[in-house]
Amino acid sequence: MNYDKDFLNENMMGPNSMVIAKELTQGLPFIKGMKVLDLGCGRGLTSVFLAKEFGVQVFALDLWTSSTDNYNRFKQMSVSDLVVPLQIDALNLPFPNEYFDAVVSIDSYHYFANNDTYFSEVLKPILKKDAIVAIAFPGMKFEIENNIPEEMKPLWDEDILKMVHSIDWWKPKFENHLNDFQISEMDCFDKAWSDWLSCENPYALEDMLMIDTDNGRYMNLIKLSGRVK
Ligand SMILES: C[S@@+](CC[C@H](N)C(=O)[O-])C[C@H]1O[C@@H](n2cnc3c(N)ncnc32)[C@H](O)[C@@H]1O
Repeated sequence: MNYDKDFLNENMMGPNSMVIAKELTQGLPFIKGMKVLDLGCGRGLTSVFLAKEFGVQVFALDLWTSSTDNYNRFKQMSVSDLVVPLQIDALNLPFPNEYFDAVVSIDSYHYFANNDTYFSEVLKPILKKDAIVAIAFPGMKFEIENNIPEEMKPLWDEDILKMVHSIDWWKPKFENHLNDFQISEMDCFDKAWSDWLSCENPYALEDMLMIDTDNGRYMNLIKLSGRVK
């Protein structure tokens, strides 16, 4: 994995999603030709990663990013024959039942799926039996609820805080639906965040103080994987 630094810096939207994708997909049986949904792909970094590393066919779905902009990026990265750019709301997925061999979702699932029913009622039906599920998102080491540490109050966005949760909170949303289910903190937290904080995006500059003040106490990155039952 060796991607152009300027391309990465221009297109990161948070902690480096290519670094997260590398750790998340390690050891999972992605095979050339599989049909993979990249759910909430943003500017498509992870879609480029999946197409280039595994030769899979990627449906690169995102709400905020224009499909034309993503198409241009996929052409620039020579993967437009493998990646289909789609601007669609993850709450209204227009795919047939049992369509995908895998779903990958990085740093976006918490925005639209932080509830008890999204996986079982919206996402699972469009995945084949035995499909690979690989999801990573920002989380908390434990539930914060209303006990927000004083020093973090000015640094954490209230809306985001409602979406980020602990491993124990996420676990029951998946465990009965997946075989080989695993959920854990990610090892790449420091690397993924330091790439983002040094990319000169104005949002990254705002995040610097948050990461320094948190200092490894509350925030984490969570990964989960399994095969659809
Ligand atoms: C922080 S960005 C991460 C993007 C990308 N996965 C990455 O890591 O670079 C979060 C993404 O979630 C997407 N998102 C939020 N709500 C969504 C929804 N309802 N449907 C589809 N995508 C959504 C946004 O469009 C945005 O691109």
